[in-house]
Amino acid sequence: MPTRQRAIDGYARRFGEAPQGVAFAPGRVNLIGEHVDYNGGLVLPMPIAAGTWVAYGPGQGGVEALALDFDGAEDAFLPGQPAPHQPADWRSYLRGMAAGLAACGLPVAPARLAIAGSIPRGSGLSSSASLCVALGRAFAALTGTEWSASDLALAAQAAEHQWAGVHCGIMDQMAVAAGEPGHALLLDCRNLASRTVALPADWAVMIVQSGVRRGLVDGHYNARRADCEVAAAALGVPSLREASLPQVEAAALDPVVRRRARHVVEEIGRTRQAVTAIEAADLPTLGRILAASHASLRELFEVSVPPVDDLVGVLQRAIGDAGGARMTGGGFGGAVVAVLPAALTSQVHAAVLADYRAPDGAPIQIMIEQTGGEPAGEGQ
Ligand code: GLA
Repeated sequence: MPTRQRAIDGYARRFGEAPQGVAFAPGRVNLIGEHVDYNGGLVLPMPIAAGTWVAYGPGQGGVEALALDFDGAEDAFLPGQPAPHQPADWRSYLRGMAAGLAACGLPVAPARLAIAGSIPRGSGLSSSASLCVALGRAFAALTGTEWSASDLALAAQAAEHQWAGVHCGIMDQMAVAAGEPGHALLLDCRNLASRTVALPADWAVMIVQSGVRRGLVDGHYNARRADCEVAAAALGVPSLREASLPQVEAAALDPVVRRRARHVVEEIGRTRQAVTAIEAADLPTLGRILAASHASLRELFEVSVPPVDDLVGVLQRAIGDAGGARMTGGGFGGAVVAVLPAALTSQVHAAVLADYRAPDGAPIQIMIEQTGGEPAGEGQ
């Protein structure tokens, strides 16, 4: 059953009436600009067709929520007084989003919510940012208020920091809240300025799950962020966005910290080059830039894992020099993204199924995103 309908049916079964409406937010795939958002850098994510649907209706004093993807688990609290939930799970995001919106002066009404999503969890495709933004849109609809994409994104980021303990940047939340389906979003994480970058309609974006679920990520992620902060402090700059490669090479840095800083400075440059290549409809050049990004994430930032490297290799061999592939998201497992000529899609799909095996033998999930056109997923 389509995910949107699951949310509607789940709501009707649980609350005995039809919902007032259904809010949606997509997931995202990051094309390039990895681990640079929390360094004030430039990123190029794209919303995907998969996402989170929240069927909503007015509540009776409190917030009552039902998570259809977690065996119908429920949560209930008073809008003004959500308490932290440990260990962090979907309830942390729900309560964190309610608290984050209230902290931004955005009223949260009593609500009934039924949540269903289609983003594979642990895949680096931002299921949590999608959940938070969809919840924010449901609360906004119930209070009849218009919240800007950046208000929603900042409240969602606060939920991640304060309620789930992940010190993430702002890329995922902004991509999910402000991105346009089928188009990339060039986002400057220093000031949240953004513009849409259209991908040629004869290109395809393919997302393949490595089958390695990101686990125990938070500690590694926060450690990488800390390395970058150490580098910026040693260089005397507010963030690595302000650092140059010669500065990084010349400074007295610990070798590990120097590798992290070099990745960030070069990756910001690659994001700029990728936008130029996309706007020139030059897919072979974009492919080389994606390959360089992956190599840097593997060697310098050290957030890839062998199965993800294998999968990138399988994709790159199947695509040849017509496009490219790289890990996407925070790393330590999750999904790989490839950009390729749409005409090669079935051949590359077949090559992945023939040549890649997930470590636990799990079936390989492949998603193909439409470029240039209208959303494929909103109505699902
Ligand atoms: C995760 C974080 C983002 C970003 C990426 C890496 O998705 O949530 O803020 O840092 O990792 O680019």
